[in-house]
Amino acid sequence: MKKIIINASEVITCSGYEAKYGKEMTDIKPILRGAVVIEDGLITKVGSQENILKEINIDDYEIIDAAGNTVMPGFVDSHTHFVFGGYRAEEFSWRLRGDSYMDIMKRGGGIVSSVKSTREASIEELVANGNKRLDSMVKLGVTTVEGKSGYGLDLDTEIKQLEAMKILKDKRQDIDIVSTFLGPHAVEKVYKGREDEFIEYQISEVLPKVIEQKLAEFADIFCEENVFSIEQSRKFLQAAKSCGLKLKIHADEIVQLGGAELAAELGAISADHLLQASDKGIEALAQKKVIANLLPGTAFSLKEDFANARKMIDRGCAVALSSDLNPGSCFTNSIPLIIALAALHMDMRTEEIITALTINGAASVDKQKLIGSIDPGKKADILILDFPSYHFLPYHIGMNIVKTVIKAGKIVVEN
Ligand code: NIG
Ligand code: FE
Repeated sequence: MKKIIINASEVITCSGYEAKYGKEMTDIKPILRGAVVIEDGLITKVGSQENILKEINIDDYEIIDAAGNTVMPGFVDSHTHFVFGGYRAEEFSWRLRGDSYMDIMKRGGGIVSSVKSTREASIEELVANGNKRLDSMVKLGVTTVEGKSGYGLDLDTEIKQLEAMKILKDKRQDIDIVSTFLGPHAVEKVYKGREDEFIEYQISEVLPKVIEQKLAEFADIFCEENVFSIEQSRKFLQAAKSCGLKLKIHADEIVQLGGAELAAELGAISADHLLQASDKGIEALAQKKVIANLLPGTAFSLKEDFANARKMIDRGCAVALSSDLNPGSCFTNSIPLIIALAALHMDMRTEEIITALTINGAASVDKQKLIGSIDPGKKADILILDFPSYHFLPYHIGMNIVKTVIKAGKIVVEN
């Protein structure tokens, strides 16, 4: 049946079919006392309630009453690693004791330890754990999530992770999943010191299977000192691009290596992390319209300085925000925490944060024409907040204020 959301105190539309750059990020295009019409899972009208009620016969519509509430687009969490086996809880405590993330990684902990558990896990276990994590995301208002492989490193496990995501994609109607192939996430033990050969293995053995089975839309690499160099990253990403995958890069996270510049050079859709991005790198991202996807939960969890969101926005970048949910550097998918950190530690304005989690998140998975805003023709992925204005998002610190989640026109959560 056709539906209409009425009586909202405000509808934050984030209107647009493209990412928002620089100053544009502050314009979230609110409509006071707005209404939204939904048909067949898509948004067909949005505007002032008074006008819309003149155009339609309300008796033909199922009413969703948002009295006293804010209506906004669903959140897009555009960088996560939500499919993995095992946990690394003890490592977190080692870090509290003073060990660094990279020290733990050099000792054979870190990503490699999750690789071991992910290889040991059955696909059913990966699906079951992933499914639980998706439940938690949906309750927080995430309507689209990106997920990566990268805890396999070898052919069988990389494919197993991506297949688990595909099973979840087919199974869940309440969240859309975008898959990324991250084969070069760490150096496989037997390839230590032979990183070039490992990249070659990913290109010649794993990538073709990912393509053949249509298991991923994006490719990604951990471009970092002591992991993969700029040259190795360029080689892998160029190969992935020539096979039709879109590109993302874990760039300039711990050391300033020039990952942002590489993302711009290769026409990546997003460059992610960017804690250490250079001024030149930031300029390049703005110029080449690469989304700067920032992950404050990771900086917080690793006790690193946050990415310079203010500088990026002031220089004209499109900034997105994501959780980076993973078993090591950031074991949280808390959107309320991301909002709090962006507001209180990254000098981002409330409106910029909303843009970063909606239309720019959508652009970070190349879906800005389909989701990320409340506009005619887009999927009806909509949140109703338990408060009358969007200012409550950062103000009610660390709290989930999402009351109702609507996915493709269907109510999927009533908190
Ligand atoms: O995005 N930086 C590399 N990859 C992940 C961390 C993965 C892990 O620690 O397991 C990240 O932070
Ligand atoms: Fe990551």
